[in-house]
Amino acid sequence: MSTAPGRVLVVGGTGRTGRHVVSLLREADVPLRLLVRDRARAEAELGAGLDLVVGDALDLDLGPAFAGVERVVSTLGSRDVHGGGLRTVDLPATARLVAAAREAGVARFVLCSTIGAVPTPGVPRTCSSGSRPRARPRPSCAPAASPSPSSAPAVCTTAPPTTRA
Ligand SMILES: NC(=O)c1ccc[n+]([C@@H]2O[C@H](COP(=O)([O-])OP(=O)(O)OC[C@H]3O[C@@H](n4cnc5c(N)ncnc54)[C@H](OP(=O)(O)O)[C@@H]3O)[C@@H](O)[C@H]2O)c1
Repeated sequence: MSTAPGRVLVVGGTGRTGRHVVSLLREADVPLRLLVRDRARAEAELGAGLDLVVGDALDLDLGPAFAGVERVVSTLGSRDVHGGGLRTVDLPATARLVAAAREAGVARFVLCSTIGAVPTPGVPRTCSSGSRPRARPRPSCAPAASPSPSSAPAVCTTAPPTTRA
């Protein structure tokens, strides 16, 4: 039986957090694919030889990006903390990614963090729309997120637990 790691799709790999995820996974020889918005910038920042799918998670046909993918790590973020980016970018893009991951049968979806995960003055909580987390987050990689059956955003995060169970 093969013990080789399956392909990981990294979203947000050109960002401050994502570039470290890419670096660590490359060091561990994990087969990677990156969803990036700018090929030239991704190659300049991360180096050549990466499997890149180019597009915006808000409108790209995500199916091909997920083909053959076993796990996803998303560090996607709008940086638009006070300008509504949570509702216009972070949540809808992440919801699309989770839906595509489920469609593709991806085993695990690791959502690094998001605006509104912890109380921030002037920023709506990620869960304030009525969606509720299905399971208590674990300190490390949580199982694939369970989208809400309602029209609420499919991904919901909570502040990390302060103590380990
Ligand atoms: N850094 C912190 O202190 C901190 C604290 C708490 C929470 N967080 C959260 O953690 C996550 C990662 O933070 P970060 O600082 O690493 O963020 P970042 O540097 O702004 O990186 C965000 C990444 O998401 C990508 N992205 C944004 N919108 C996209 C879209 N529509 N389609 C595809 N890719 C898109 C960006 O691509 P481009 O390179 O093309 O722009 C970039 O690679 C975010 O959700 C952030 O809100 C961060």
